[in-house]
Amino acid sequence: MGTERRIASENKLQEDNKVQVKSKERVAAHGEVFTADREVNAMLDLVKSETERIDSRFLEPACGNGNFLAKILERKLAVVRARYGKEQNLYERNALFAVSSIYGIEIQMDNVMECRERLLEIFKNEYLKIFHEKYKQECLESVEFLLLRNVLWGNALDYCEPTEERKPLVFSEWSFLDDGMVKRRDFTFADLVTGQYSLFSDLGVESSATDPVKDYPLVNYTDLNSEAYE
Ligand SMILES: C[S@@+](CC[C@H](N)C(=O)[O-])C[C@H]1O[C@@H](n2cnc3c(N)ncnc32)[C@H](O)[C@@H]1O
Repeated sequence: MGTERRIASENKLQEDNKVQVKSKERVAAHGEVFTADREVNAMLDLVKSETERIDSRFLEPACGNGNFLAKILERKLAVVRARYGKEQNLYERNALFAVSSIYGIEIQMDNVMECRERLLEIFKNEYLKIFHEKYKQECLESVEFLLLRNVLWGNALDYCEPTEERKPLVFSEWSFLDDGMVKRRDFTFADLVTGQYSLFSDLGVESSATDPVKDYPLVNYTDLNSEAYE
């Protein structure tokens, strides 16, 4: 191999490693090695039909900065675009529904923030590409709020925030109704874990979890924000 090609190939390898490993310390402390795109896609292809179902719920209990969640969102949004790309309100409701079905837990706060930002960016790019200046700012704010609620800073092993108080992790179940209203019900993660990770039920039956810790009034999909849920 010529010197230039070898250097280019080493640089590429370093670039890939940089993406997969932030630091040796983080690998040692948290086992943080990110999965490369090729493997993510290959694994998601094993459940391809689920990744293309708008309402299928995914939880990644060690989501890092969102390598799996990002691809799932992209796949779901491609379906929403193909089905509803010509009708803005329907697109928005279904695209938000797609976002609401994606959940993550991550123990390192910087990864949590990166993951939320990354998913928001994916949504925003796609939404603006389709609807240009007709986009609604409040829709983007609803997405931001969904991500704040769905991608949690926590320890997936003890179901709590990684602080001394060990506040229990609480996830929201979002049900999108045909008239654009959204029902939110909160459950502790501990209650949702029954033998294996099972997040609510998305098969048309009531959640098999115990009672919600909180049940909220209906809110329009453009108004999902902290004020609406005060
Ligand atoms: C091997 S990395 C995988 C990240 C991501 N899933 C991916 O495939 O790119 C494991 C991730 O789990 C996080 N982690 C480790 N222990 C955890 C725990 N008890 N609860 C939640 N996240 C944890 C680490 O911070 C790290 O980001």
